[in-house]
Amino acid sequence: MNKKTVKDIDLKGKKVLIRCDFNVPMDENQNITDNTRIVAALPTIKYLLENNCAVIACSHLGRPKGEFKPEFSLKPVAKELSKLLGTEVIMANDVIGEDAKAKAQALQGGQIMLLENVRFHKEETENDPNFAKELASMAEIYVNDAFGAAHRAHSSTAGVAEFLPAVSGFLIEKELQFLGHAISNPERPFVAILGGAKVSDKIGVIDSLLEKVDTLIIGGGMAYTFFKAQGYEVGNSICELDKLDLAKELMKKAEEKGVKFMLPVDTKVGKEYKPDTESKTVRYDEIPAEWEGFDIGEETIKLYEEELKKAKTIVWNGPLGLFEFDQFAIGTNKIAEVLAQASATTIIGGGDSAAAVKKIGLEDKMTHISTGGGASLEFLEGKKLPGIECLLDK
Ligand code: 3PG
Repeated sequence: MNKKTVKDIDLKGKKVLIRCDFNVPMDENQNITDNTRIVAALPTIKYLLENNCAVIACSHLGRPKGEFKPEFSLKPVAKELSKLLGTEVIMANDVIGEDAKAKAQALQGGQIMLLENVRFHKEETENDPNFAKELASMAEIYVNDAFGAAHRAHSSTAGVAEFLPAVSGFLIEKELQFLGHAISNPERPFVAILGGAKVSDKIGVIDSLLEKVDTLIIGGGMAYTFFKAQGYEVGNSICELDKLDLAKELMKKAEEKGVKFMLPVDTKVGKEYKPDTESKTVRYDEIPAEWEGFDIGEETIKLYEEELKKAKTIVWNGPLGLFEFDQFAIGTNKIAEVLAQASATTIIGGGDSAAAVKKIGLEDKMTHISTGGGASLEFLEGKKLPGIECLLDK
């Protein structure tokens, strides 16, 4: 990475504003159901504390749309972070208000505080320079470690770098190292697996990966748009009729580039969108009217498995079926197991594919699971991420 990190700047004893992505899932009682993103921020936070920094952490949680809403408070995160660090995390009652500022001023080296959800101010997502300046006024150095939010040009992820020396934390460094290496210098064969509901969400990434991979494996809801584009009936399956030409173009591009483009050869269809709906497996070109495709079939799993066993680098983004319903999670789970046993470097884009891998307890078997959903996708698309662009060059 050509951006400065916390190791490239003298931050001993300084006041440091660190942007983390503490946007963690919570249940209806505000219990954190997956603390991965908090754990992922620990190395940088610990490094800052060990260097006697007064650490002012900030993050967003959910999308409260510029208003204070108690269910979006970061208080549960402060509690979890205290537990993980084994030290008190002082919680501010606001973001740039009197309480935050007084607590920031009184903060000593080796202490940490957490500001309230930056999205309680609409100025955050507007990347308002005055709001960024207010945030910056509490600290001397800015550290961005919020990889999951690095694709957002918001005040706390990018704007604040106008007012403070800005460097990355270890998480961003690590994410770029794994994702960047996979993309720019992969060991071959390089196979990408793309799933998810819609082709439209993945156009950029398919287009960009076709320049790089040896094989592109397609699963999930978007497979049906590709079937339809080839003239097959897809019953009630999710299908983007306005993307049929695009699907054809992508398949043509794959052919021109010599990329093996693999679509399911069979699919598990269900009668209704219900966990216990009646289901059966059919060939890709025999999807009955009134039925809906929800997963890849057994034959497809076998073919994909053979291909993946030959790979040296695998990048996976997006589930291969409706994995929230057990009977349609088989494709996603089996492919996760294949990756877990593979000798290849395995990189899981965040979001749903990361959730699927965690759900079956295989996260320790992957080389790298990104903490960014949208961010990792945009990175794989080759887009520049504002949260990284704004940092000081080495
Ligand atoms: C995420 O969960 O992908 C990040 O925290 C970004 O959240 P956002 O999509 O609400 O900006």
